[in-house]
Amino acid sequence: MDVVETIKRQVDLVGYIGRFTQLQKSGRSFRGLCPFHSERTPSFYVFPDRGTWRCFGACGEGGDVFSFVQKRENTDFRGALRLLAAEAGVQLHEEDPRRRTRLERLTAIVSAAVSFYERNLLDPAGADALTYLTGARGLRPETIAAWHLGWAPEGWHNLRDFLLNRGYSVADMVSAGVLVESEDGREPYDRFRGRVIIPIANERGEFVALAGRGLQGEEPKYLNSPQTEIFDKGRTLFGLNLSADAIRERGEVVVVEGYMDVLGPWQAGYRNVVATMGTSLTVQHAALLRRFAPRVVLALDPDAAGANAAERAGGLVLGIASDEQAIASARAADSIGAEAEVDLRVAALPAGRDPDELVRDDPAGWEAAVAGAVPFVEFLLFRMLGARKPGSAIEARQAVDRLRPVLLSVRDPIERSLYIQRLARHLGVSEESIAERLRMAGRGAQRLPKTRTAPLGPEEALLAILLRHPALRMAYRNYPETLFTGAVEREIFRRWLRDPETAADAVDEIGDRARRLLQYRLPPLTDFEARRAADEKISAILNDRIRLHQAARAAELSEAERELGPNRLAELAVAAWKGEIPTGPERELAEAIIEELELGLSIHRRESWPAS
Ligand code: UTP
Ligand code: MN
Repeated sequence: MDVVETIKRQVDLVGYIGRFTQLQKSGRSFRGLCPFHSERTPSFYVFPDRGTWRCFGACGEGGDVFSFVQKRENTDFRGALRLLAAEAGVQLHEEDPRRRTRLERLTAIVSAAVSFYERNLLDPAGADALTYLTGARGLRPETIAAWHLGWAPEGWHNLRDFLLNRGYSVADMVSAGVLVESEDGREPYDRFRGRVIIPIANERGEFVALAGRGLQGEEPKYLNSPQTEIFDKGRTLFGLNLSADAIRERGEVVVVEGYMDVLGPWQAGYRNVVATMGTSLTVQHAALLRRFAPRVVLALDPDAAGANAAERAGGLVLGIASDEQAIASARAADSIGAEAEVDLRVAALPAGRDPDELVRDDPAGWEAAVAGAVPFVEFLLFRMLGARKPGSAIEARQAVDRLRPVLLSVRDPIERSLYIQRLARHLGVSEESIAERLRMAGRGAQRLPKTRTAPLGPEEALLAILLRHPALRMAYRNYPETLFTGAVEREIFRRWLRDPETAADAVDEIGDRARRLLQYRLPPLTDFEARRAADEKISAILNDRIRLHQAARAAELSEAERELGPNRLAELAVAAWKGEIPTGPERELAEAIIEELELGLSIHRRESWPAS
């Protein structure tokens, strides 16, 4: 996967754009006031499924996350790439060689902090903390020592002074995340005060971050190091350094949510456990785990996991709160499983107890839950289905229709047929009837949005054709670059316009992508045929954009229908049709209805765009 794709996957588009304009969910998209021109009714949409945004109002702009940053920060593609790489924690080609020693320095600071806090736990001042760990938390001294647990004493400068004595600079301590910069210009101060310290190491055993737990229920329960140059939550798994051997031995790793959910099982002898740190599992996590074991068992709380949109960006949600969420979960699981090549399973823990508590009260229950883990999609399907068996053919049919998108998200046909088999048994119907129902509903109905690994979309296909046929430059020289949604595609097009012969030659991310498009297998076409094919792709792009607009409008109108009732909406439609635009809040709605009608007409008039 290239840098650009990684960034697109990592950055949560809705969350990111949401920093600049307030967005509200509207159907499958999000709507808000356009950040690029001033308007009073929202006509700016973000489409998380596609990773794109578009203003259907005055400015008519649209694109992907890169074009958003380019426009918003008034920078070029390189600039946007640099900003977003930092946002996503992705490394770019060009890297300062001096960073190496800097990173080593930051890691050394965290290690020194760990030993400082460790010693404080054994001092008289740490007595209460030690009692908490050995008493309420039931940890034995060996466990405390093995995990280097510590105590951060009260006070603002204990760690700072200790590290200064060791020759570290305050600036580096801030960069390592152990000091906090003060807002009012005072000296930076210790981040962790009056908390039990849980050190976080990377898989090589280097300490990269700290977590601090309050003893008396202070907020937040756990205070964590921020993201730093040496600590990336989305790539770090707590406990991997100490659990790696057991994970390799068993060929299986159990992923839990909490620090204590690693320590509890570890002490009880279950040592193949790691934790994500309050985020969902990402493809980077999975790829890291794959180096140790082929099977990943998630022992997460299915209802709470990753409720936060920011975490959904690159990661996995177990939730089934809505059908959409279940579908998104299934897709994410399928792509994580396929990309990282892991067998992803879910262990159903008994309700109301986290792994730490379960292992303590009922070790056999823990073992049974892990041993009985089922494939991710199977887990989702049966949770969506609920405990009750459908009583009639209609109910069985409805159930299959509901589960259809989840089933279709499974790309591997063998795997899919296994789920169909199990489902058939559960519903008491034949496998063929389910398979047939899936095919029937598929015809004519809305297709699944394409995943990025799918065959080329129309924009990419158009570029592939243009790159292969430099002679087409004259024919397309007046086309606007906004024909393309993605910033990368736009940049490739720009380079192609400048010089179609060398457009794929540059040694950078754009060049990489252009070369890949150029390698795409196209049928051999004459320049004349290529031009026809390119025109077809352009129609497809425009059609697609119009459908997007309609879908956004339709979501808005169906929302209104739910609020006002179908009768009132029909009255408004008739009024709008007759040209009687109401005043007040319903005016906006009437305008939307008119636009919807107009748009239907304009599709037939569209052929004339763009003028060349
Ligand atoms: P939980 O709230 O489930 O806590 O958070 P826990 O792990 O069971 O902790 P104990 O047993 O009460 O001590 C799960 C995980 O989410 C992250 C931590 O990684 C925590 O272990 N978290 C939670 C935070 O980072 N900050 C918080 O304030 C809360
Ligand atoms: Mn707990």
